[in-house]
Amino acid sequence: MNRKITIQPKLKLSDLFIRISDGEYKFSDYIFKSGRYSLFCILKTILRSKNIKKIYVPNFICDEVIQGIGSFNLEIIYYDIREDFSLDTISLKKTLCSKSLLVVVNYFGIRSNWEEINEMKNELDITVIEDNCHSLTNYKNYKLGINGDLSFNSIRKIIPVLSGSELLVMNKKYLVDYTYQKRLPTLNETIYYFRRYLYFLNAFKNNIRVENKYHKINKISHADILSYRAIKMNKYPMRHIQQRRLSNFRFWHSYLSDKKLSFFEFNEKVQDEFLPYAFPCYANNRDTADKWIKWGSQNNISIIKWPKFPSGINQKTMKSCFKNVLLFPVNHQFEIIKILNYNKTELDKT
Ligand SMILES: Cc1ncc(COP(=O)(O)O)c(C=O)c1O
Repeated sequence: MNRKITIQPKLKLSDLFIRISDGEYKFSDYIFKSGRYSLFCILKTILRSKNIKKIYVPNFICDEVIQGIGSFNLEIIYYDIREDFSLDTISLKKTLCSKSLLVVVNYFGIRSNWEEINEMKNELDITVIEDNCHSLTNYKNYKLGINGDLSFNSIRKIIPVLSGSELLVMNKKYLVDYTYQKRLPTLNETIYYFRRYLYFLNAFKNNIRVENKYHKINKISHADILSYRAIKMNKYPMRHIQQRRLSNFRFWHSYLSDKKLSFFEFNEKVQDEFLPYAFPCYANNRDTADKWIKWGSQNNISIIKWPKFPSGINQKTMKSCFKNVLLFPVNHQFEIIKILNYNKTELDKT
């Protein structure tokens, strides 16, 4: 069995059929294949009733988001965010055109400055899309996924399913045209999620990420039937998942505190009900980032550089803290503090 600590949950076949849990989380009725497909459906829904020409997207963003936008006749305008991942409403207000779309991301599960954003929204005629792909929706008091006019997440990034993303509508004037279409898992989904059993098959491993190649999404696709049923049965141990992810997050915060890595300024936003996707920090240059990625592979820990920027973003002009961002895994399937056998001497050597 491959014990590599991965960022995304690993799947056992039984995860799709048997679950022991509290079942406290209620998923919405609209379940799509992945975040980018939900975003595609959101745009289709909005543009059916509104003539909008511009979409504002943060410049710290991954290519996958642009895949969900690429098929529409929308001008993409990238905006800056602050070092605590919040949106600089004062500077954005100066350039934001009315009758446009604004995408706001809750990075790594850290809540954006929604109070300020909603104030700005009330002053301007804009539609806000909440990208909550790094967390889940409305978990207890840490209110996420319910702040935009519409929101979407990426269920499969947090809980073990083959595919799945939830679309939520807060502004009831938007009516989503939805009928679930059954489909079997694709070969890529199957290979990717059963990678724990395939680690010795390098030929397979090389093909695993094929689906992440850039392509514009131009039609709706729903979650595969196995994941859809598992999601609808709604019995995940969310409290355990959230708490383990948070304690892994806090572990990295402490473990990396005296390393040659820098932290973002989001500390006060990390509350007890925070459900993170990964622990973010940044290196001052590419070499240091690469050293950490190598350290991860030597220690069987998947550390990645994020994001894969869309080609339309000029990385040269963006804030340096966003250029070499590393994500450390907080996957609830591992108790990282035990695995790394955390002790001060080990720490000092790195
Ligand atoms: C911030 C953000 N939004 C949207 C997406 C798209 O989600 P998915 O991979 O489920 O399509 C991703 C990840 O790829 C992401 O990191």
